[in-house]
Amino acid sequence: MERFYITTPIYYVNAKPHLGHAYTTIIADTMKRFQQMMGKETFFLTGTDEHGDKIVQAADKNNCTPQEYVDQISQLFKDLLPELGICNDHFVRTTDAAHKKVVQDVLQKVYDSGDIYFGEYGGHYCYGCERFYTEKELEDGLCPQHQTKPEYIAEKNYFFKMSKYQDWLKQHILDNPEFIRPERYRKEVLSLLDSGELEDLCISRPKTRLEWGVELPFDNNFVTYVWFDALLNYVSALDYPDGENFKKFWPSVQHIVAKDILKPHAIFWPTMLKAAGFEPYNNLNVHGYWLVNDTKMSKSLGNVVAPLEMAKKYGNDTFRFFLLRDMHFGNDASFSEESLALRQNAELANDLGNLFSRVLSMVKKYFGGVVPQPAEYTEADMELRELASNSCKNFQQLFDNVRFSYGIESLWELVRGLNKYVDSSQPWTLAKEGDTARLGTVMYTMLECMRKVALHLWPVMPESAEKLVGQLGLDFDPATANLPAEVEAWGLLPVGIEVAPGSNLFPRVDIDKLRKEIEEADKAAEQAAKKEDVAVQEIAAPIEFDDFAKVDLRIGKVLVVEDHPKADRLFRCEVDLGEEKPRQILAGLKEHFTAEDLLGRQVVVVANLKPRKIRGLESHGMMLALKTADGMEMLTASGEVPAGTKAS
Ligand code: MSP
Repeated sequence: MERFYITTPIYYVNAKPHLGHAYTTIIADTMKRFQQMMGKETFFLTGTDEHGDKIVQAADKNNCTPQEYVDQISQLFKDLLPELGICNDHFVRTTDAAHKKVVQDVLQKVYDSGDIYFGEYGGHYCYGCERFYTEKELEDGLCPQHQTKPEYIAEKNYFFKMSKYQDWLKQHILDNPEFIRPERYRKEVLSLLDSGELEDLCISRPKTRLEWGVELPFDNNFVTYVWFDALLNYVSALDYPDGENFKKFWPSVQHIVAKDILKPHAIFWPTMLKAAGFEPYNNLNVHGYWLVNDTKMSKSLGNVVAPLEMAKKYGNDTFRFFLLRDMHFGNDASFSEESLALRQNAELANDLGNLFSRVLSMVKKYFGGVVPQPAEYTEADMELRELASNSCKNFQQLFDNVRFSYGIESLWELVRGLNKYVDSSQPWTLAKEGDTARLGTVMYTMLECMRKVALHLWPVMPESAEKLVGQLGLDFDPATANLPAEVEAWGLLPVGIEVAPGSNLFPRVDIDKLRKEIEEADKAAEQAAKKEDVAVQEIAAPIEFDDFAKVDLRIGKVLVVEDHPKADRLFRCEVDLGEEKPRQILAGLKEHFTAEDLLGRQVVVVANLKPRKIRGLESHGMMLALKTADGMEMLTASGEVPAGTKAS
């Protein structure tokens, strides 16, 4: 029996699970279910990555020990799985004793073979990424992921001779076009390998700096670098080296990761495997990023989508369907609740749900709810059967190549074809005319095609597929179906069984109402964020009176307000401070005020601020404003006072 081993990345436990984690796990789950139906023996692994600086920092923040902290967050990831309909075979944690032992065994093996050496290293270390960056990799001196300044660290460490395997890796990728897919990521890795010498990989951290890790078996002053530790989960979870699962499932493995961790999986991992004497994995499947409002999801931006909220609101199956349908595997995609609801309405409620409720109620009406015997098939029926066969075949090929959205599209060609067939074959006319034989053939043709649709949907929407199969009157677990046979098979729906029509499984969402709700929720969130902004402005450190007295505050009257010719966000103002002539002041107030709002107003001006040139014009002072939860207010006097009056 062919074997199929599927993995997700093991997730860091320094933050709670979000949409991105849910997506990768759902993809892996879908693949496992699909390959199971393709007749393979499957094993599906997910888990958590629990060592490293980030964890220690997060535990400190939460006033608990690292172990307490990782236990808590790892459990959150674990709890999410059943809620998302995930049927993993194992959940690995890098703090498992068995995993740590494998890390040590592999390190020792590679050390003994001479591929690990002791040396000195200096590099720019980003604590967020838990990795060193070379000068070249930084963007304006900042970490490209976190836009923070990494710390330069020089220390003695152990290194893995990754460079030794550069040529082998390149050749392997060239010889195996599907090793890294889709193609764009394969190209990215090849160009990285072509761009120069691969550096050796620093695989240790001195305990003086970090204790929370797997101790090196050959030097207890060091712990293992998180990536060398984490990547080995893919074999430790199979009980390497003697476990049955390791013998069965390695190297029939498909890894799924997003583009953020391409390099560790495409370069570190295969070279580590080679050095440790393992076969390379079969495929690395790399997907893009879910963006929210076209930006990266991030806790600090407050746009992290909590997967469970969406899954609960729309049903887990709709959530899964949307994620697989809307993202073209490999590319980025934008998440919005509105697009999810639109998909639910168009493809699930209209196309699929309607088809089932319509056809099944006709079976009830015309045949007392019993699957009728087909008579002779006409050309139109044969065309539909041909469409069914092609859709199943295409769906299977596309899913096998991780092209989920196109696979679903192929299946929907059949769903839409079925809806057209209902209209063109007009069962209601056949019933009126009493043509029972033809009516029976039409109904049976549709029901048999619908059975195929329901089965193919199981990897994507397990619960709904089971319900649809039940509505067709089958007492059958879709997991046990044989998809390849479905391409040619006909007539597997038994004649004479009773169908069980139900209401449309996918209710329509009122889009106008939803838009209003979203708008209101956005407004409320914006207000709350602004309030928080104002509230958290702490009082600055105390200053001496003499320092305060240095600031010369005057009342001025705004006489001219124009756009700054070269700076979009600035006004060029002329303000009368009772001096010989008005002063030119440049002000960044455009976001909150129009020229008319400011013209003729009395404002408070810092009059002795050193002149500053901004985009070719000089500013002689600054007008003071107050930032409020709703925007900005200008600071002014409670009544009209002569221009130039000094505040004291
Ligand atoms: N611990 C490492 C992986 C070690 S694997 C040996 C790690 N963890 S992570 O928690 O940061 O997870 C990264 C993965 O989460 C991505 O590769 C992807 O699978 C998923 N996603 C996180 N954010 C994502 C999006 N915005 N969009 C899609 N998936 C993303 O890296």
